[in-house]
Amino acid sequence: MDDLKAKYLGQIADAGDEAALEAIRVAAVGKKGEVALKMRELGKMTPEERQVAGPALNALKDEINSALSAKKAALADAALDERLRTEWLDVTLPVRPSRQGSLHPISQASEELTAIFAEMGFAVAEGPRIETDWYNFDALNIPGHHPARAEMDTFYMHRDEGDNRPPHVLRTHTSPVQIRSMEKTGAPIRVICPGGVYRADYDQTHTPMFHQVEGLAIDKDISMANLKWVLEEFVKAFFEVDGVDLRFRASHFPFTEPSAEVDIRCSWEGGTLKIGEGDDWLEILGSGMVHPKVIAAGGIDPDEYQGFAFGMGIDRIAMLKYGIPDLRAFFESDLRWLRHYGFAALDMPNLHGGLSR
Ligand code: PHE
Repeated sequence: MDDLKAKYLGQIADAGDEAALEAIRVAAVGKKGEVALKMRELGKMTPEERQVAGPALNALKDEINSALSAKKAALADAALDERLRTEWLDVTLPVRPSRQGSLHPISQASEELTAIFAEMGFAVAEGPRIETDWYNFDALNIPGHHPARAEMDTFYMHRDEGDNRPPHVLRTHTSPVQIRSMEKTGAPIRVICPGGVYRADYDQTHTPMFHQVEGLAIDKDISMANLKWVLEEFVKAFFEVDGVDLRFRASHFPFTEPSAEVDIRCSWEGGTLKIGEGDDWLEILGSGMVHPKVIAAGGIDPDEYQGFAFGMGIDRIAMLKYGIPDLRAFFESDLRWLRHYGFAALDMPNLHGGLSR
């Protein structure tokens, strides 16, 4: 019995993995293992011999079993230690400074304006770029025959003959998100909706795809004065100046009444665009008090609620802020341009740290 004990405890101590341990278990204490064979010999012994050999065999079996499980646990620990050692990763290492990636001025401007409007209590809402003509036009008080449909140079989605689904367009402005937001949350509401929009147009200040941010504030006592204040505060914060010359021009939109367009004073001299000086004006947004029909289309009672909306060109205000004279360059993906006008990807704009340091 001492030989058996020494043999198996030695093998267990030397076992290198779980498979080896299992082989030892079968050979030692399995049903047909050596200890079981010895147990069978008990029958041939005298009662006196059996009284000594029986408990001793059971003790041997126990001892081998506990040596097996202790070794099994030790092997598992060692395996875990090995994994921890080889799969170790220092998550505190700084990111490698890379000159490869940068934030596009439009992304940067979007982050900046979101931070400013968030401070004024505006949440961010989004809508699809492929829109039904109901959301893009009808719900905004632009019925089928309305000249505004033609004015917007709309891209219509292809429809096969006999396709009866409602016509879809590439949204021509972010105003459909007004309707979707009102439907979703009801009144009162205060949201901005940044995103891409599409019109068939191409020159120094127009591209077929560009970006707008819609603003919408609906409550019981919102007036044109609130609109003017919000826009002036925004412009000061965005351009990081104490005052900029703004021009509110009476205008017309089917979805607002009254309506105003807003221009910013600028100059284009010597091929550079400068904000706040010169005799030129660049239109940056359309705005007004939301038409009662539009409020109703959004599922809100226009006798109880009123509010303002505006739609601002993100690309335009980015051109002004960063002095980029040609809008078309924004979308040409010229690496030299992106490196020159791009922003460090890890700097998140916020009001306390400075927007565009
Ligand atoms: N949707 C208008 C445009 O794209 C802008 C606008 C938005 C005007 C909201 C008034 C109110 O020109």
